[in-house]
Amino acid sequence: MTEIKHDIADPALAEKGSKRIAWAERSMGVLRTIRQRFHKEQPLQGVRIAGCLHVTTETANLAITLKSGGAKVVLCASNPLSTQDDVAASLVHDSGISVFAIHGIDTDGYYRHIQSALESNPQITMDDGADLVSSLHSKNRELLEGMVGGTEETTTGVIRLKQMAREKVLKFPVISVNDALTKHLFDNRYGTGQSTLDGIIRATNKLLAGSIFVVTGYGWCGRGIADRARGMGAHVIVTEVDAVKALEAHMDGFRVMSLAEAAGIGDFFVTVTGNKHVLREVHFQKMKDGAIIANSGHFNVEIDIPALESLAKEKRTIRDHMEEYHLRDDRRLLLLGEGRLINLTAAEGHPASVMDMSFANQALSAEYLWKHARTMENDVHPVPVELDRKIALLKLKSLGIEIDTMTDAQEKYLKTWSEGT
Ligand code: ADE
Repeated sequence: MTEIKHDIADPALAEKGSKRIAWAERSMGVLRTIRQRFHKEQPLQGVRIAGCLHVTTETANLAITLKSGGAKVVLCASNPLSTQDDVAASLVHDSGISVFAIHGIDTDGYYRHIQSALESNPQITMDDGADLVSSLHSKNRELLEGMVGGTEETTTGVIRLKQMAREKVLKFPVISVNDALTKHLFDNRYGTGQSTLDGIIRATNKLLAGSIFVVTGYGWCGRGIADRARGMGAHVIVTEVDAVKALEAHMDGFRVMSLAEAAGIGDFFVTVTGNKHVLREVHFQKMKDGAIIANSGHFNVEIDIPALESLAKEKRTIRDHMEEYHLRDDRRLLLLGEGRLINLTAAEGHPASVMDMSFANQALSAEYLWKHARTMENDVHPVPVELDRKIALLKLKSLGIEIDTMTDAQEKYLKTWSEGT
């Protein structure tokens, strides 16, 4: 343990972490299949991979898979509040993986950990939010020369990277794992849907049935949250800035209105837009006494917390992950998880069964990059469709689900244009 570089909270938590990692592994059949092949074929022999990911039981299974394929893996956290300290301890102690992550670390410590991960001189980066890529292109440019490629897990990171590519400053190819169908259709929708409600419920223990639940943003994450909140009996309102998404939400059966209007009605508010200051002073001014506010977007910028602070005469912690802002007009607004992604601060993130596909995409993308990055442009690339499809097939197989294949005549029919009715 001592030779492995690390900065973790408590090595004594390793046993608990190891059991929880094994529990997650039971639902990660695709990653398990990849791990077995990696172990035999060693496709990442000696490759230095730095991951800046939420340090959870699911991420641990990814790190172990990469190591099984021969990689030298270093991990730091992609959010100061999402680290599971028992998992970090087990990775260092039981798997010999270098980890720099402590739950609740301050901003300086968070960035220090990113620097520690980069000291491993990575050839492949694996980001959730593009913090490694961003550091490599600003503070650590001397390391760019050794870089082969990167992968990106989340919508917010992909937006940052595509902007870098547009400005022609991106210095190595990056695969956008988020854009794979087997990632966003499942992780963003069902994963965020379930884990966000899990976080809100753990933080508040409030009944959702009959409540008015406002979801701001109707991307894949917003869809999942709105759908699951409806399933719990909440009256769901969706707010959007995109006309097409607003129409979809309307025809999916949700009430759609401006956030200014929803602000005065909602019992719960969840932001999932990827943008900043979505909930701000004008909205706080209208909210009901006791309104609950949470964010499930990547960064803690969606709720204008300084504005909330400035309206408050007093702030106090009511229970874990819940801060009460007592406003000067006597209303009380309740902010969950310091405005950081509530599914990872108050709960444990997405369940292993969806992370299985997300992280299968990560593992196969790393393998693909190691083989092909040198001939790829310095741009943001999709996960190759054949990998995406393979992951879907492996997932079905691991779930024991069989699907049909087309007959020869059907295949032929789809390739002809002359045959009609
Ligand atoms: N992002 C959302 N849920 C996650 C999880 N369980 N592990 C890693 N990253 C995540």
